[in-house]
Amino acid sequence: MAAYDTDTSPARFLTFEGGEGVGKSTQVKRLAARLGDLGVSVVRSREPGGTPKAEAVRSFILQGKPESWGVGAEAVLFAAARLDHVNELIAPALASGKWVLCDRFADSTRVYQGLTGGVEEGLIDALEALALNGHVPDLTIILDMDPENAFERVRRRAMEDGMPALADRFEKEDLDFHRRLRAGFLAIAAKNPDRCVVLSADMDEDALAEEIWRVVRERFPELETEDQPA
Ligand code: TYD
Repeated sequence: MAAYDTDTSPARFLTFEGGEGVGKSTQVKRLAARLGDLGVSVVRSREPGGTPKAEAVRSFILQGKPESWGVGAEAVLFAAARLDHVNELIAPALASGKWVLCDRFADSTRVYQGLTGGVEEGLIDALEALALNGHVPDLTIILDMDPENAFERVRRRAMEDGMPALADRFEKEDLDFHRRLRAGFLAIAAKNPDRCVVLSADMDEDALAEEIWRVVRERFPELETEDQPA
């Protein structure tokens, strides 16, 4: 029930989901570049964020400010940011025939605040319906990884980047939390087999990019016939 006609419009809406340290943002960038090489117009975004108002909500949330308000309020804030992001960026881009690739979207609220955080499903459903306004992704790629490997990756990268605080953040939320996140994303994939594809992120970056490209081409065979640069 996309808000644009996939038969007549080249627009496609793809989201990337998964736990932390699975390499989503790198893969979003790589896919955007590859589509760009084919001559496809791509808009890359992320959540929370993507528009000035949603980025403001992002800094408020990620600074830990809503913690004292409780996880329900946090779910509402993520949805408010998403509503602005959909209205101001995603819907207009799709309406003008562009592809939108988004690093995290509504499944993250369902997993972090809902399945893991305990916000009841009815509220998550209502917030999702409000924020998406019919803009259900055409494809959601869930990058799946054993949390112990993900932790090792986050730790290594944080040390290389001279940002040990990042490793601390991951460690603060214990492995059990990350296992529950993983189970949550896998449950969403099982419930939405037409929309979601789960890929193991345990392979190296190049191999994973190839795997994502294979899935995207299989899912959107019309891609091959689109204008290609000479
Ligand atoms: P970010 O730094 O973008 O993390 P990552 O690289 O893992 O995507 O921070 C986003 C954090 O916000 C991440 O911990 C997941 C969380 N989040 C939610 O809890 N609910 C949501 O709806 C979204 C979009 C993100």
